[in-house]
Amino acid sequence: MNAMLAPLFEPLRIGSALLKNRIVMAPMTRNFCPGGVPGADVAGYYRRRAEGETGLVITEGIGVDHPAALGEAGIGESDLPHLYGESALAGWRRVVEQVHAAGGLIFPQLWHQGVMRAAGTGPHPESPSVRPSGIWGPAGGLTSSSAEYVAQQLPVTAPMSESDLQDVIDGYVRSAVHAQHCGFDGLAIHGAHGYLIDTFLWEVTNRRTDAWGGGRRERSRFAAELVRAIRLAVGPDLPILFRFSQWKQQDFRAKLALNPAELEEILLPIAEAGVDVFDASVRYFDRAEFPDQGGADAQLNLAGWARKITGRLAMTVGGVGLSNGMYDSNKQGGSSASDNLDRLTARFARGEFDLVGVGRSLLHDPGWARKARLGEPFEAFSNDSLKSLT
Ligand SMILES: Cc1cc2nc3c(=O)[nH]c(=O)nc-3n(C[C@H](O)[C@H](O)[C@H](O)COP(=O)(O)O)c2cc1C
Repeated sequence: MNAMLAPLFEPLRIGSALLKNRIVMAPMTRNFCPGGVPGADVAGYYRRRAEGETGLVITEGIGVDHPAALGEAGIGESDLPHLYGESALAGWRRVVEQVHAAGGLIFPQLWHQGVMRAAGTGPHPESPSVRPSGIWGPAGGLTSSSAEYVAQQLPVTAPMSESDLQDVIDGYVRSAVHAQHCGFDGLAIHGAHGYLIDTFLWEVTNRRTDAWGGGRRERSRFAAELVRAIRLAVGPDLPILFRFSQWKQQDFRAKLALNPAELEEILLPIAEAGVDVFDASVRYFDRAEFPDQGGADAQLNLAGWARKITGRLAMTVGGVGLSNGMYDSNKQGGSSASDNLDRLTARFARGEFDLVGVGRSLLHDPGWARKARLGEPFEAFSNDSLKSLT
């Protein structure tokens, strides 16, 4: 055992789930589910991460039971999975069995693309995309989406009606209950990166003047009602993790909150609705979120603030074991390995977060968690790893 990392290999109970350590596979879209159905290759891919001692696997984003949940969103999607229908649910049951057989735990990431979905694409091309206020995002945001996709998305469409909102919430609840019946150990809700839930939180895309818009608290209402409805349906013990981010794919510079007080307005209503863990998505875990705060809090990263503000568990993510963040590595074809785990464990020891999300390192190397435990060297990440399910 690498002594410095020993605290990361302590167990943690979250509701009905007992994690054997703090290493979590971050959700990563892989495009290997033809017809929305995960096959034996997908089950094997997740099982290998559990065999490699990953404490918890969060799946790739999985479309919830709503016709406009999935489509093309300008990130090279092809075979995205969904969480409804007999074949897909049978596939997910096999995935869960395989991960459990290897001694691991697994949460599905419930996903609705919302404004990011291009009209006329996905499993139900006839269904219009849903947008809180009809707005995709700002013109001229810092984005890695193609100019063609952005031009297609910019025209304003109809805002969601009250029944559109309810239909989406109902779809999330149906998929959450399916997940529970498939044997998943908890739920991960994708509330980040400019997808549907996040566009309710963001003032640029939520201009509503009814009860679903206004100040930060009001903009949190959709996320909170969604979590509340899921919590009611799955009972008090199934863990719910909620991912949020400042950055959006429509504009990497976007901010939901400029200071801790603003973050509190956003996160508290969602926490109180029934979230167990906040997953704060940033590209570099080792950055202070609000560095102008005085005192010991000045160094806290976004997960640290989520934990401090809500009193819930928190997960950090972003460049663990790698020198480049996700978008830099996309551009450069990969990232060299980094021994930044000393900085990670220092933050963990100060109580900033309870869980550590690991993305590309685990995509590339199923045995990454074991290597960390044993103090073995990590490998570099190459974009070539995206081509297959190793
Ligand atoms: C190929 C790939 C696909 C991703 N897909 C998702 C996704 O479906 N849902 C999500 O919330 N984040 C997604 N992410 C972001 C990761 O969960 C993670 O936050 C990010 O890669 C940073 O962690 P890392 O630096 O350890 O890779 C994806 C990242 C990669 C590299």
